[in-house]
Amino acid sequence: MATSGKVIRCRAAVAWAVGKELSVEEVEVAPPKAGEVRIKIVATGICHTDEHVLKGCFPNVEFPVILGHEGAGIVESVGEGVTSVKPGDKVIPLCLPQCGECSFCLNPESNYCLKCHLSEPQNLMPDKTTRFTCKGKQIHHYMWVSTFAEYTVVPEYAVAKIDPAAPLDKVCLLGCGFSTGYGAAINTAKVKPGSTCAIFGLGGVGLSVVMGCKAAGASRIIAVDINKDKFAKAKQLGATDCINPRDCQKPIQEVLTEMTGQGVDYSFEAVGLKETMIAALASCNMNTGICVMIGVPNSASEISLDPMILLTGRTWKGSVFGGWKSRDSMPKLVSSYLEKKFNSDLLITHTLPFAQVNEGFELLRAGKSIRSVLLF
Ligand code: APR
Ligand code: ZN
Ligand code: ZN
Repeated sequence: MATSGKVIRCRAAVAWAVGKELSVEEVEVAPPKAGEVRIKIVATGICHTDEHVLKGCFPNVEFPVILGHEGAGIVESVGEGVTSVKPGDKVIPLCLPQCGECSFCLNPESNYCLKCHLSEPQNLMPDKTTRFTCKGKQIHHYMWVSTFAEYTVVPEYAVAKIDPAAPLDKVCLLGCGFSTGYGAAINTAKVKPGSTCAIFGLGGVGLSVVMGCKAAGASRIIAVDINKDKFAKAKQLGATDCINPRDCQKPIQEVLTEMTGQGVDYSFEAVGLKETMIAALASCNMNTGICVMIGVPNSASEISLDPMILLTGRTWKGSVFGGWKSRDSMPKLVSSYLEKKFNSDLLITHTLPFAQVNEGFELLRAGKSIRSVLLF
């Protein structure tokens, strides 16, 4: 391509400091170095984790930074040695990498890669330099994907080639929210047919859990949220019951236990609050119940717990990126989307031009959107 090997000037939403609105700026994006891929981002979703970072919940994210981690695009150019993608390929950048070499990548049971940002900072590229500058200042990367930029640079092991037939303005959701929630039900909990499930939090992630539970054949799916406006969509996606804990006279875990006899078989936390984490754990049955944590807590959160809650046999698990090995699974997830095995499009409530990125965040904060997709 004509831009190959050159610096590209383009638009990006820069987060200059914690608590400030994003600022759409002209940035310079350097060419990819060896082992890196430069991608023209076509569409990106807004996930609540971006909002957590903006609020300053994650001190390990360095500002100024280009956020965004739910994007889809087209390879513009590749650095030396890159073999798995080429210019023109449709791709999804992976907020959980799959290096293929670390002990967890080599373990077929695990999807967590030791190059994940929770183990290794991803504020800079692996060689500890940035590809982004703006107004003469170096701008940090975020989770190595930084999809709130018209062009971004990612390591080869943080990108997956997908079917050229895939609509990028839709499959971008597979880059985080959909895959995280759906996989938590299918891969992490391994929901069984005929079972009872409860999902706390009905955002893009929680509603994807609802879809996963339904696909796995759960017969009762109880959706829990303090915002009743989320209930219609939850029902459309497969929820059999919807409960607002604020309408209940008793703690939600007691309500769910009474509704189901002994508690649900599987519970999921897709909010990110310690109160809902404890409530979700206590809602699954004391013997064989499995509770999966998906919501990202504030880094200052600590939970104190009566150990008896686990002694009787409950299982408490966490799930990152829905348990999918990211590079291996993404092409298959996109194929399943194209085969209409699930309909993640139902999560998209707003499509906005990229310039309206702050409006997208406002919709999320106000609880008015499930997923807003920004188009470049
Ligand atoms: N009880 C039940 N639901 C709650 C509560 C509560 N106490 N507090 C908030 N919620 C609901 C909100 O009303 C909203 O519908 O949780 C939902 C969260 O949805 P989004 O804000 O759209 O977030 P989402 O992108 O789905 O992410 C959920 O997963 O990936 C993580 O960082 C992300 O922690 C976040 C979580
Ligand atoms: Zn996300
Ligand atoms: Zn790895």
